[in-house]
Amino acid sequence: MPALFDSYKLNGVTLRNRLAVSPMCQYQAHDGMVNDWHRVHYESFARGGAGAVIMEATAVAPEGRITWADLGLWNDAQAEAMQPIVQSIAKWGAAPGIQIAHAGRKASANRPWEGDDHIPLGEPNSWETIAPSPLAFGASLPRVPREMTLEDIARVQSDTVKAVTRARDIGIQWLQLHMAHGYLAQNFFSPISNQRTDKYGGSPENRSRYLLETLIAVRKVWPADRVLSVRLGLIEFFGDDDAMLDQALTLLNSMKNEGLDFVDVSMGFNTPEANIPWAPNFLAPVAEKVRTSTGLPASTSWYISDAATADALIREEKLDVVTMGRPFLSDPHWPYHAAKTIGVKNAAKLTLPSPYAHWLARYR
Ligand SMILES: Cc1cc2nc3c(=O)[nH]c(=O)nc-3n(C[C@H](O)[C@H](O)[C@H](O)COP(=O)(O)O)c2cc1C
Repeated sequence: MPALFDSYKLNGVTLRNRLAVSPMCQYQAHDGMVNDWHRVHYESFARGGAGAVIMEATAVAPEGRITWADLGLWNDAQAEAMQPIVQSIAKWGAAPGIQIAHAGRKASANRPWEGDDHIPLGEPNSWETIAPSPLAFGASLPRVPREMTLEDIARVQSDTVKAVTRARDIGIQWLQLHMAHGYLAQNFFSPISNQRTDKYGGSPENRSRYLLETLIAVRKVWPADRVLSVRLGLIEFFGDDDAMLDQALTLLNSMKNEGLDFVDVSMGFNTPEANIPWAPNFLAPVAEKVRTSTGLPASTSWYISDAATADALIREEKLDVVTMGRPFLSDPHWPYHAAKTIGVKNAAKLTLPSPYAHWLARYR
């Protein structure tokens, strides 16, 4: 029976434990480039004992950023600047990961603490948004996106492959394609945002096409000994969610046949009218369903914040990995405290580098 602090091996990648830092946008970049903020931020999680550190949503093209301050991998200079951070994460014992993203109709927004709303076109840091259909998200994101042409679709898929190739070349081990949270891939998958009448819209199969094609294209450049994962919004808490979940499981089975290794289970965030039943641990049953009905290993996050629950989810084989966000923001040494709380032997040695572990091993 695996436990939270047992290692986890998938393909040629071994995590020292089953805790991964979930991608979290920092909105601190200029022109998509990392800087000292990102270095300190990501290194602290690796030094703090996480098994994997999945860097934030990183845009494949400038128009795919949520805000002007998102990271990007649309040019080689961005990759070159990111490489030392990737190397540091690995040096401190965590598997370096990244989330590759395009924000679709939610792009061109202000940073969360500056309004979290669309910047009107024509103002600084605004740009035209694109999506499968000319339908706005609504509420604070009212901009109607331009409907993507077939050429746009091919171009964004090609940008995605190029960004993934850069991630590969700088040593990323755990790749996560962002297919959730109301961004471009989810815009295609969901009937709320996709009303196309061509081969990319209409039936579930057609709405899945963009996602499956992208996965297939990425698989061609992503090494077999690393991890290829998707973060999928399997449930929207709006409309017919049973149908949505069935379609998502069908899509995941197709992706598995095309070489998908791992799924992070998340939700749609594709309409402001969603009625999300926030509660501790509330997506774990969906992840369990993914594991049992597709056979794919899975993780989830969302309000899994105490050590005993995280450990139980692994021991009961409901999850393969626990992805966590805010607990790591409040304490990059969360793994150390968690290991102590649940009575793991040698907690300090297991989760901390020697200059810390030596002193803390005997400290209560
Ligand atoms: C500051 C912040 C930024 C986030 N940015 C991203 C992101 O870049 N990509 C993503 O898929 N989810 C993002 N999320 C969601 C987290 O990955 C995670 O799923 C969420 O915080 C729930 O996990 P938690 O309850 O452990 O915090 C973000 C969350 C926070 C708090």
